[in-house]
Amino acid sequence: MKIYREENYEMLSKRAANFIASQINLKPDTVLGLATGSSPIGTYKGLIEKNKAGDVDFSQVKTVNLDEYVGLPVEHDQSYRYFMNDNLFNHVNIDMANTHVPCGMSDDVNAEGKKYDELIESLGGVDLQLLGIGHNGHIGFNEPAEVFDLATREIVLTESTMNANSRFFPNGGMPTSAISMGFGSIMNAKKILIIAGEEKFDILKKALTGPVDPQVPASILQLHKDVTVIYIGKEEIA
Ligand code: F6R
Repeated sequence: MKIYREENYEMLSKRAANFIASQINLKPDTVLGLATGSSPIGTYKGLIEKNKAGDVDFSQVKTVNLDEYVGLPVEHDQSYRYFMNDNLFNHVNIDMANTHVPCGMSDDVNAEGKKYDELIESLGGVDLQLLGIGHNGHIGFNEPAEVFDLATREIVLTESTMNANSRFFPNGGMPTSAISMGFGSIMNAKKILIIAGEEKFDILKKALTGPVDPQVPASILQLHKDVTVIYIGKEEIA
């Protein structure tokens, strides 16, 4: 595991954007696994700047997002499809047909999850998966549980996640479940990059140095052979 400690969000975002751009430059048809939330916004800004400067080309890149709320139409400004278009896809030279976000509007979300795993497989798997981490250690929306579930599937959100994300739904109506890539597709990614702000230091440390335990979902990353961690913290993690 390669671990980088950064002083602030700007430095974290810069390093993460450089990392992803290097991956694309080495393999122009990279399959990128992407995350939403506040952590990657600066990274996406950095990638947009590099694309505009001609330093990275998205024309052959394919993307698969980690998750989407169940029951939110894609036009909703809190849907993860909307977030991705707004924070990255609309500003770079990516072919929209090559961008994928799981569909949370299906009548059968778990069947949709199975199709999503098959899609990822048909793309040859994820080359580089970008992750954030939840206050409860979740990655994607894989909440603390009894087992590490492999499949992309519907997951009921925990109270911790509802509390963390309800700020984005000031008028209420936050969905109570999401469709999320499972540990199968995440752990099959050839490389993983996880970014974490200062407020995630304690849970990140627990995940990376404590026991591998599905109650701390990100702890499974200890079993992956190529993980890079970029975090903001006053002290070293290990
Ligand atoms: C989002 C996702 C989540 C977030 C996590 C951290 O696609 O998969 O696991 O990465 O909840 O969210 P932020 O970055 O908003 O703190």
